[in-house]
Amino acid sequence: MKDEAAKKALVIGFPVAHARSPLIHGFWLETLGLPGAYERAEVKPGEVSTFLRALPANGYAGANITVPHKEEAFRTCDYLTDRARAAGAVNTVWFENGALWGDNTDGLGFVSHLNQTYPDRKKAAKVLILGAGGAARGLILPLVESGASSVTVTNRSHPRAEALVQDMKTARPDAIISTAAWEDRAAALAQADLIINTTSLGMKGQPPLEIDLGGAKPDTIVADIVYVPLETAFLAQARARGLRTLDGLGMLLHQAVPGFEHWFGTKPEVTPALRAHLVADIEKKA
Ligand code: ATR
Repeated sequence: MKDEAAKKALVIGFPVAHARSPLIHGFWLETLGLPGAYERAEVKPGEVSTFLRALPANGYAGANITVPHKEEAFRTCDYLTDRARAAGAVNTVWFENGALWGDNTDGLGFVSHLNQTYPDRKKAAKVLILGAGGAARGLILPLVESGASSVTVTNRSHPRAEALVQDMKTARPDAIISTAAWEDRAAALAQADLIINTTSLGMKGQPPLEIDLGGAKPDTIVADIVYVPLETAFLAQARARGLRTLDGLGMLLHQAVPGFEHWFGTKPEVTPALRAHLVADIEKKA
């Protein structure tokens, strides 16, 4: 028989004190009444591979990986999901028959949050992504798989957008993925059903994302992956214009679901109570 009490998981990062995963998984373990623990560990760059390989011997079923270790974890895994391969980064690992598996659940988390919040949304959406960094990279494949009819990427540094689009076309040759010039972003948004900020602009301590949403269609959904603050200036502008909005906290909550299910054997739910638990923490530190 399996030793239920031995199930443990953790988040690794450098630093890791700010990580909110322990709040999410701790909430689920407690409310579901499951034995187990979710911890955090600071791991130095260069030591990720050794640390992950030693997880089973130390009683861990797997881990979440946060900044700056997602690429190092990606290079360490024996097997990767398609979306992790497309993202070039891993945020969730677990073991199967002794082999280390890696997934990237950020994009899935975004789409789950989107579907839960707007179940009636247009599935064949034209998507405009602002930014071409790691976060954008993780979103595109799950968006295409959720039915998006096209994805346009616009980024301050255009070559980075071009490189990202090339990689995504290699991963999904049938998908319609293109770039738009950063200077033309206000024009590009007029076509979009879903606009997503994946840049760091608007995050606490960063300048705001400057974009005029005046040209957006009235039924457009405007999303931000930033969740501190919960409502960025970008989302506030969208709300003031009567557009539907989606904040970054929901993505954080939903991205945690697959990991928990792998490690603890039960699929947890993202509920208003879980969200309130996280909102309280964000507001406490504001
Ligand atoms: P992440 O992994 O969180 O996506 P990243 O890879 O550093 O982080 O990417 C940050 C994104 O924010 C990039 O798209 C970046 O644009 P560049 O590729 O041109 O650097 C974008 N970004 C950051 N600061 C910006 C600014 N002041 N104006 C416009 N875009 C900015």
